[in-house]
Amino acid sequence: MKKIGMFDSGIGGLSVLNKALRHVKDAGFIYYADEDNTPYGLKTKEEVIAYSDNITNFLVKRGCEAVLIACNTASSCASGFLRKKYDIPIIAMEPAVKPALKGCPLENKRILVMATPLTLREEKLRNLIKREGGQERVDLLPMPKLVEFAERGIFFGDDVEGYLEKQLLTYDMEKYSSIVLGCTHFNYFERSIRKYAPSSIDIIDGREGTIRRMCDLCGIEYFDKKINVTYPDVKYYYSGRSVTDDRELERINKYHRQLEGFA
Ligand code: DGL
Repeated sequence: MKKIGMFDSGIGGLSVLNKALRHVKDAGFIYYADEDNTPYGLKTKEEVIAYSDNITNFLVKRGCEAVLIACNTASSCASGFLRKKYDIPIIAMEPAVKPALKGCPLENKRILVMATPLTLREEKLRNLIKREGGQERVDLLPMPKLVEFAERGIFFGDDVEGYLEKQLLTYDMEKYSSIVLGCTHFNYFERSIRKYAPSSIDIIDGREGTIRRMCDLCGIEYFDKKINVTYPDVKYYYSGRSVTDDRELERINKYHRQLEGFA
């Protein structure tokens, strides 16, 4: 069975792992949350490359045959570096700008990309938007506080909603066809974001495409229909420390439940 490593600055990438566990059977996972260094979105590119290198080295030493960067910020800063250095498949996240533009044939409609400040500054996203011809139709919105809320396990309530309202209501939502969640921590807030986005707006993220790509590169099957599994074949690490404590494992399971809609 293939062993695949996934990492993020924290618990955002669990939203990628959760989806993988629902659609992939023949793989075991190591999930690495860099809790000592979160958030990445407020760090420099050089710092994020150094963290990502360290983590990839750790995962390779533990037998991972592929690494999925379950973090848009680390993907935009470090995927090129890691691909040059490591001789295994490195799968990266990408904000779902391409499907968002494809799903919006109306010339007068716009796309709103939410991500961390570092992802939004990086050339990788600029190039992607340019390549897809979206320069005139894409707006960029940094939402660093959502990372903080997600790390604290706060998904609803006055603080989250006050922040979303303040950020989103400065935009005329009628102008948009989709909101792209360009940070894996944001996937926990889909329902809260929906309150400020009319139902005509699609809220999309890049998880499915990334997991399909992982399956292609690793020669494993992606099952379209959700698989009903528990999580036996996953090991968790917080910045290199194995997570075995019941309280911490319960914290992680709470995120999985939130993603499955019954927390
Ligand atoms: N989850 C990450 C991302 O997708 C990083 C968030 C952060 O640490 O700032 O960008």
